[in-house]
Amino acid sequence: MARNHIRGYLESGRYELVALADLHESAMEEVDRSFDVSPAHYTDAREMLEDVRPDVVSVGTWHEGHAEWTIAAAAYRPKAILCEKPMADTPGRAEQMLIACNRNDVKLAIAHQRRFLPSYTLARQMIADGAVGDVQWIASVGAQGLPNYCTHQTDMFRYLLSDDTCTWVMGNVERKTDRWERNTRIEDAAEATFQFARGARANIICDLGAEVYQGAKIYGSEGMIDLTVEDLKLLNADTSGKWETHQPEGRWVQPGATGFEYHEAGVAQALELADWVEGQIETHRGEAQHGYHALQMIHAVYESARCHERVVMPLQTRLNPLNVMIDSGHLTPERPGKYEIRAMRLRGEGMDQDSTA
Ligand SMILES: NC(=O)c1ccc[n+]([C@@H]2O[C@H](COP(=O)([O-])OP(=O)(O)OC[C@H]3O[C@@H](n4cnc5c(N)ncnc54)[C@H](O)[C@@H]3O)[C@@H](O)[C@H]2O)c1
Repeated sequence: MARNHIRGYLESGRYELVALADLHESAMEEVDRSFDVSPAHYTDAREMLEDVRPDVVSVGTWHEGHAEWTIAAAAYRPKAILCEKPMADTPGRAEQMLIACNRNDVKLAIAHQRRFLPSYTLARQMIADGAVGDVQWIASVGAQGLPNYCTHQTDMFRYLLSDDTCTWVMGNVERKTDRWERNTRIEDAAEATFQFARGARANIICDLGAEVYQGAKIYGSEGMIDLTVEDLKLLNADTSGKWETHQPEGRWVQPGATGFEYHEAGVAQALELADWVEGQIETHRGEAQHGYHALQMIHAVYESARCHERVVMPLQTRLNPLNVMIDSGHLTPERPGKYEIRAMRLRGEGMDQDSTA
């Protein structure tokens, strides 16, 4: 995903790619070839931070590295850090990222890039304008674990609802096998409901065999929206009860093309970061408080399963409650044997870690 950041930086025309840090030289060589660039290469990211003192740092390791490398970069006081989602592997580490950036006066954004999709922004505007009345229910489906896929959805709920606050979460998980995703334990299946302050509710069913896509079905008192990453359909009294398709144009991607998620959104995210750094805007759509909220909502599902209760937000637990359940013997896999569903991303002899750090 770091390449997506690079594409965004280069295509926005507002950045210079000065250096890369990766444990594997081959990964950096691939970037050079893909983008026809020649930044400095480092196999030690702290050495890169020390030598280069970048204005903007992107963090694109697996989840466990997000806090470590954001906190390390913050100590060098760049102007901004763009860190991949999920914000961290635990709510406590995410909180430390906020503290580290705050005390060093560093702007921190989390790359929930779908906030920059024209279809998502149009849906948010339609909802704010009352096109579906009061939102009563937002339904979504996910896969490959709550932290990976579904932090995008908890963030999407809030984006659609003008960043309303989640007030409680209730959910459950099934974990019969020792399933991991990017060095993070995940469940085999999950289901969760989220309540928002202004009355809306949302749910996620994850890894339960349903059709899987980013987007949502939004049900309101006066109408409905069927949202995808490329377009949306609206049904209300003004559309005479028929589905009306809206295909908003991107700045870089036009309706009918497939590049909205990783092209349009990636460049728009980079552009807005440059505007934020240069003081042209007060905040960034992916400002870290949103990523933190989205992460807390996911960990609240685990906490609900652990405590058998509706979890009132904000979440008080700083550890990963799924880990706590497993380590305490509350949720021992019935079919033991660790497996990593992202092992195909690794290089060399790696099988279940992207880093030995
Ligand atoms: N926003 C999105 O839609 C989206 C999509 C895909 C992935 N992601 C996120 O991006 C992150 C990375 O996922 P990926 O699939 O790109 O992983 P990847 O395995 O393709 O890349 C991770 C890279 O980090 C490097 N790395 C690990 N430890 C390092 C260290 N200590 N110093 C320097 N480099 C180090 C690895 O060598 C590897 O090249 C994950 O957190 C994932 O959730 C987000």
